[in-house]
Amino acid sequence: MVASIDGAATVEGVSADLSGNADRAMFAALRAQADVILVGAGTANAERYGRARQPGARIAVVSGSLSVDPDLPLFATPAAPLPVIVTTSGADAANAARFDGRAELLRSGEVRVDLAAALEELSACGARVVLCEGGPTLNAGLLAADLIDEINLTHAPLAVGTAASRIAASPLAGAVPTSPLEFELEHVITHDNVLFVRWLRRRCGDCRRDSR
Ligand SMILES: NC(=O)c1ccc[n+]([C@@H]2O[C@H](COP(=O)([O-])OP(=O)(O)OC[C@H]3O[C@@H](n4cnc5c(N)ncnc54)[C@H](OP(=O)(O)O)[C@@H]3O)[C@@H](O)[C@H]2O)c1
Repeated sequence: MVASIDGAATVEGVSADLSGNADRAMFAALRAQADVILVGAGTANAERYGRARQPGARIAVVSGSLSVDPDLPLFATPAAPLPVIVTTSGADAANAARFDGRAELLRSGEVRVDLAAALEELSACGARVVLCEGGPTLNAGLLAADLIDEINLTHAPLAVGTAASRIAASPLAGAVPTSPLEFELEHVITHDNVLFVRWLRRRCGDCRRDSR
């Protein structure tokens, strides 16, 4: 995720103006580690997601109501491996049919996607590293379920002064951790007036890192 100095995750509805060459290089480096790139429907739509250029990385869009746009560049070339849409067992069949031949549907949860179960299923399909690229709603859901092992945050050298969302914030009920989650500073890099921070989740009382 990239955020302004004052915590905004977007400028005029997208993250592009917060990013720059250094952040784009970091973004690509992180993607190169990923087996699956997980993204919320809001981000896939707003940022007009396409396929990952990194070989082997598969995009999975979380979309309970299938609001993800079937005309995104992501679905334009139906070549293997198809992108994944992570949805619910209750998702509308006609809506789902719009993705026939364009995406694989992974169903998890009835009303809302069960993110823990979905990650288990992706793992069972061979995903070792799942990189979540946001947005704030999906991030908040993952935090609420304590499913985030690592946060990579770029602090852009900008202050925007708007009411734009923070990097994790959800309008959905129950999408808040029961208590603040503790992270440990892994590294700080500065380059080209940009600050990159990696935080690792500390899960146990004795501060040992959970290997999950
Ligand atoms: N600064 C950054 O680094 C950064 C990164 C990414 C995105 N962004 C910005 O963030 C904005 C989008 O964020 P957002 O918070 O609005 O959307 P989002 O998190 O990308 O997507 C939210 C959508 O994902 C689906 N979803 C998430 N969790 C779910 C669950 N547990 N069960 C079912 N569905 C679930 C729902 O789709 P359905 O509605 O289909 O059910 C929900 O409406 C955009 O403006 C984007 O540019 C910024």
